[in-house]
Amino acid sequence: MRSIKRDPLPKRTNEEINQLVNDLMSKMTLKEKIGQLYQTTHDGAAITGPSYDASQNKKLINEGLIGSFLGLYDNMEIYRLQKEAVENTRLGIPLFFANDIIHGCRTSFPHNLAMACSWDPKLIEEASSVAAYESSHSGINMTFSPMLDIVRDPRWGRVMESFGEDPYLGQLYARAYVDGYQQDDLTSYDSVGACAKHFVGYGQIEGGRDYNTVDMSERVLRQFYLPPFEAAVDAGCEAVMSSFNVYDSVPATANKFLLRTVLKEGMNFSGFIISDYTSSGEIINHKIASDMKEVAKKCIEAGLDHEMVSNSYINHLETLVNEGSISESLIDDSCRRMLTFKYKIGLFDNPYKNIYLNFEDYWLKDEDRQKAKEVALNSVVLLKNEKVLPLKTKKIALIGPLAKSNQVIGPWCGKARDEDCVSLYDGLKRKFGDAIEINYSLGVDYNSHDESLFNEAIEAAKLSDVIVLAMGEQQWMSGEAQSRASIEVPGGQLKLLKELRKLGKEIVFVLFTGRPLDLREVEKNSDAIVCAWFLGNESGNALADILYGDYNPSGKLTMSFPYVVGQIPIYYNHLNTGRPYVPEDFYRSKYSDIPNNPLYPFGYGLSYTEFSYTNISFNQEEDEVSVHFTITNEGDFDGVDIPQVYIEAKSFSVSRPVNELKGFKKVFLKAGESKEIIIKVKKKEFAYYNIEMKKAVESGEYLVKLARNAEDIVSTKTISFREEIK
Ligand code: NOJ
Repeated sequence: MRSIKRDPLPKRTNEEINQLVNDLMSKMTLKEKIGQLYQTTHDGAAITGPSYDASQNKKLINEGLIGSFLGLYDNMEIYRLQKEAVENTRLGIPLFFANDIIHGCRTSFPHNLAMACSWDPKLIEEASSVAAYESSHSGINMTFSPMLDIVRDPRWGRVMESFGEDPYLGQLYARAYVDGYQQDDLTSYDSVGACAKHFVGYGQIEGGRDYNTVDMSERVLRQFYLPPFEAAVDAGCEAVMSSFNVYDSVPATANKFLLRTVLKEGMNFSGFIISDYTSSGEIINHKIASDMKEVAKKCIEAGLDHEMVSNSYINHLETLVNEGSISESLIDDSCRRMLTFKYKIGLFDNPYKNIYLNFEDYWLKDEDRQKAKEVALNSVVLLKNEKVLPLKTKKIALIGPLAKSNQVIGPWCGKARDEDCVSLYDGLKRKFGDAIEINYSLGVDYNSHDESLFNEAIEAAKLSDVIVLAMGEQQWMSGEAQSRASIEVPGGQLKLLKELRKLGKEIVFVLFTGRPLDLREVEKNSDAIVCAWFLGNESGNALADILYGDYNPSGKLTMSFPYVVGQIPIYYNHLNTGRPYVPEDFYRSKYSDIPNNPLYPFGYGLSYTEFSYTNISFNQEEDEVSVHFTITNEGDFDGVDIPQVYIEAKSFSVSRPVNELKGFKKVFLKAGESKEIIIKVKKKEFAYYNIEMKKAVESGEYLVKLARNAEDIVSTKTISFREEIK
């Protein structure tokens, strides 16, 4: 690896670690064991909730009552706290330090929903390993990532943290993130522990309003929401964070069925479960506990090991044990999980692992910026192109609040800084220098309806051959606690678009966003739409390459773009209805004012070239089905295509989705080139939670579909399985 030479930390077997944990626990008081179950933060922090008074932290550390910290990036502060824990407590047990580093630490990668559109788990693993390297060298031992919530509602600001609406992709990405962070070796100086979140169902909050209620069936939970977590656990993910929401009317943080039955027992999860920020204490607001003592009892019984910021455990567990209300074995189990992580990551061998004075030297290395650019290029989705792109002219108007803005990171990117990001304007200037004429105008600010700069923008447009608009959301309009009921491009931006349209010039709309937006007006008034998300450090450089054809866009959506907000929730893998829509019949499932379909479906994304699929055949073998075809790049540009395979069960003991993604391939083809492709789908991928809530491939017919996206099916074949496998 790229690590500088340091004495390797000992690698131990599970048995050896168990022995060490047993020895240590035999010396610990009940109180000290409880101390390991508490994560707190620093003075005045209000990371994502109520602010925290840390005046007692030093005292608590000295008494052995803090197990870990979140939200610290200052290496010297980390050092001071660790020294306090190691030198000034009875047993010298080290703390661990955790942070939200979800799409890069100092090097910022595109936000997670954008990266997901690369359909490239390998790339995501590489991005995560850069994040792990930079984080670990900042003294961080765990990242609160990956976020594995299935999302179906773009009003929810947190969709930008997710991989989208599909559990099959979710499983691939879960594994990629975990492998990238943990690198199969937690003793390494380059890795960090991963914490999969939010367990579980948070992505289905009602009305898209953050922290709201959730209600779903167990089948939906198991079929859609759990698989990414199963993959993360299978990949050895060290921690899982419980979510804010209820499942079946019980908050996840105190939900025994979720935490014990499903996660610890069902998935054999041997790591630790951490609450979300004050989510344990919030069960009082959920009305299932009346005070913090009851919080502690309910959460420990449910299986919550580590409490984030709420302090019910350190204040009440000891009394609960002493009065016989709970068994000490619950605390032993949780404490064992916490100490095991600390041993695994090497903190007992070197508590100051990765605390450096020169930590900034490990950040933003050239090769990492290069990787950030590669990921950015792969994340962009071309939504519309009426032969305008790639641009031929270098005389352009560049208009909009995101034209010169370097605020293109999006939330939860560790130490990333706007000043390290390249704006679209700067990206174009860097690429072409004086060879490009850019007539710039801000035009209108994000949320503003002030039209005083409209004329300036119109004049800039008149001077130019093409109008390039850099518009959309401000980067903080998505993320936690950032729900929007209206998901149009905000403020006066659409009005300016329509004014500019009147000039009759070609318009390229470069859309910056953390979520799918209602793009009806943009679609109507633009000749090309480039979904540029928030791409991080290399945003402007990547977009300049794409606009001028040095990179042919290849991203495919992993979350449907609704036609209008009234369709939400909208997702491709929905069930059929008893009255599926057909235009000629009135009493059908439809809206009277809008179409049923999204504006841009799951799997959709254009290219500067065309790809044809020929010689298609489907082959059924004993334990797999394979789709064979020739893919040809018919156009003048080299490019990447992502053919997709979906299945549809024709008859099953429960109603199943109209489409389920089960395979894809990312294929690079030179202009004119053809390749023979095989996409294989294992028989077990046809399984679904059946009427008995067992995952089964029931005998019967299945339609296998080769497709360009969830709505553009190229060829299908009915296959059947005769025997049932469970
Ligand atoms: C609340 C968020 O829901 C979670 O994703 C995050 O990891 C924690 N706060 C810690 O910052």
